[in-house]
Amino acid sequence: MDFVKKEVEEYAKLYTSNEPELLKELAEFTETNMPMAQMLTGKIEGRLLKMLVALTGAKTVLEIGMFTGYSALSMAEALPEDGQLITCDIDEEVAKLAKDYFSRSPHGSKISIELAPALETLSNLNQTFDLAFLDADKENYVEYYQAIIPKLKSNGLLVIDNCLWSGKVLEPKAESDIAIHKVNQLIVTDSRVENVVLTVRDGINLVRKH
Ligand SMILES: C[S@@+](CC[C@H](N)C(=O)[O-])C[C@H]1O[C@@H](n2cnc3c(N)ncnc32)[C@H](O)[C@@H]1O
Repeated sequence: MDFVKKEVEEYAKLYTSNEPELLKELAEFTETNMPMAQMLTGKIEGRLLKMLVALTGAKTVLEIGMFTGYSALSMAEALPEDGQLITCDIDEEVAKLAKDYFSRSPHGSKISIELAPALETLSNLNQTFDLAFLDADKENYVEYYQAIIPKLKSNGLLVIDNCLWSGKVLEPKAESDIAIHKVNQLIVTDSRVENVVLTVRDGINLVRKH
């Protein structure tokens, strides 16, 4: 289910600030060479993530689900020179590609990659973050949420991708549909946070910790 007509989506893309050439190249390379290229966040969400990092003045960012590195590099752009972004993935092949692009970016040195199941990485992380972006295996969204919230600073922002899951949250059937619907239910009743569900792309749940 598309929430926005294709032509309107294209218009929104056209009238959104351009991403740097390197990110354009990364998106094109991913589209041409990677079988799961549709996982890449893309221009509108990438520019939104960058803007959220800039607006919150975040210095520490956590990403769950790096893929070829598009969203990580988008957020790193808005981090200060001494800012830090930790990104998690389990796929060695995509990590190699992401590392190559990070090394070509003036912002790449702010990024470090944790190549392990993200729940494991999360349980070993002993620091707090200003902003987190969750975009990995949907079946574990509830576990990720419960692990991330204590690691967010007060007034920290959690951005959850695919929270409308092509509309499948309306009648959840598969494990991933159920997990995403559950996390949405959990968030709206969680007194530790306030949130807004945006119908941007596949749905973005913006969650601010009190
Ligand atoms: C939707 S993609 C991320 C897209 C990325 N944010 C972007 O903008 O290009 C999801 C990623 O999560 C990773 N992933 C899946 N299960 C994981 C797990 N248990 N731990 C860490 N990463 C995982 C996959 O390898 C995949 O690269």
